[in-house]
Amino acid sequence: MTRIDVEEYVRQAVPKPGEEQDRFREALGNKWKASAGLFERENLGRLISPDAIRRALVGMRLEPAEYAPAMEAITRRVAEDPMFGRLWEHCWYLAYRFEPLDRWSAERWQPFERFLGEDAGEFFLSVLLSHYDCLMEFVKARSIPIEVVEATLVAQVSERLRKDTARAGRPCLGSSGLTWLSYHLAGKVFRLGRLVYTPRPFEGKLTLYRNRESGETIAVPTSGLKFRRDGQFDGAGGRSDPEGVWTSRIRQDGNTLVSNAWISPHGCARQEDIRLDLTVWEAVLEPGDQTIEFHIPGGEPLDQAACGESFRWSLKFFARHFPEITPRAIHVGTWLLDPQLQDMLPATSNLVRFQREMYLYPVDYGAGGERHILGSDYNSLDDAPQRTALQRSVIRHLRAGGHMMGAGGILLADDVVSGCWGTQRYINTAGP
Ligand SMILES: CC(C)(COP(=O)(O)OP(=O)(O)OC[C@H]1O[C@@H](n2cnc3c(N)ncnc32)[C@H](O)[C@@H]1OP(=O)(O)O)[C@@H](O)C(=O)NCCC(=O)NCCS
Repeated sequence: MTRIDVEEYVRQAVPKPGEEQDRFREALGNKWKASAGLFERENLGRLISPDAIRRALVGMRLEPAEYAPAMEAITRRVAEDPMFGRLWEHCWYLAYRFEPLDRWSAERWQPFERFLGEDAGEFFLSVLLSHYDCLMEFVKARSIPIEVVEATLVAQVSERLRKDTARAGRPCLGSSGLTWLSYHLAGKVFRLGRLVYTPRPFEGKLTLYRNRESGETIAVPTSGLKFRRDGQFDGAGGRSDPEGVWTSRIRQDGNTLVSNAWISPHGCARQEDIRLDLTVWEAVLEPGDQTIEFHIPGGEPLDQAACGESFRWSLKFFARHFPEITPRAIHVGTWLLDPQLQDMLPATSNLVRFQREMYLYPVDYGAGGERHILGSDYNSLDDAPQRTALQRSVIRHLRAGGHMMGAGGILLADDVVSGCWGTQRYINTAGP
């Protein structure tokens, strides 16, 4: 691949010097040197050959007649157009050889879109699919059943690609999907029954303690965190509480942990003094520990039994195929764990039952969480959709001045193994 100075892209995409050009230069320049020469080093030509792309399409149950011609055109352009090819190489590097700090941000793909215009969707799709052969080698080396890989790709990736393609009227992957979907092609995400899993270090701002004698569990926030009176992070959802904000203070005094706060398994911090005798209370989950993050795909009910089965499967799966990982917990942060849903939905609903199985904890959620429930196709609450019980409850809640939150949820791996699912273990046994 020809080595092209980043300035050439900058000048073509944003000819006028100024702030916008500087932003573009900074975004594209990020790791530009690291990606140079990757095409030859990793023999990327074989990964975007027409045969390789067809294998990907067939394996992912995507119709070759619909996708292959556009993908082959991208492959030809990569070979013939040095600027295009160098950009493809750089994008491939960022997608598959570089771990971004913010997984959910699509910002890093914007310079590519700016340069490629309406060809960006096909370009991103080509980058995505070209890791298929690498994935096959990876899963074979780890003896991961091909049915698991196919189920993951078909349900999690192909469905999204079909939607983007239908919307664009041509083969397409929108930039907002590239990072997350590339994790599936990289062998980092697996769908195991009802839920989807990816190994991640624990990012919650808390330590979970377990009493060796009684089996009780309690979460203690990290020191120095600012909370509102409602026990959520100050600033979460764009809401501050200048009058009532308080700060967690935790210290160790010999064998005793002294804290002015603890986190209730109902998902809020409580400003109450606690002392834990550390000869009895053992830290069982701390920030940075190895864990498995899970996600909840839509499209079918959140059946309680299917979730329990999936959690148990996930631990067996990672122990067998990723023995280097010893996860201490399974967890996620999401709008679906907003503890307020427990007051909005009947106790028998799947979401309420699901939440009550987990140790919920505060997260720094964003504003506007209602869009997950109401969509964004309405102007005022008067014309927001009211088809489901949840939509109706959310509208009532917002009208009364409430807002939607999010939360994290933890299941300790040992508890999953010992059959905690279905026992509401944490709300039954947590407390100072
Ligand atoms: C997870 C999910 C399948 C749960 O649905 P469920 O099994 O029907 O859940 P419940 O039994 O608790 O539903 C109770 C009520 O809320 C409604 N409801 C649940 N999720 C809803 C949503 N996202 N939007 C609107 N209404 C919803 C249900 O339709 C039901 O109302 P009804 O009795 O009038 O039909 C569903 O919320 C969903 O598809 N979510 C999208 C997944 C997602 O966002 N994942 C990312 C987070 S990791």
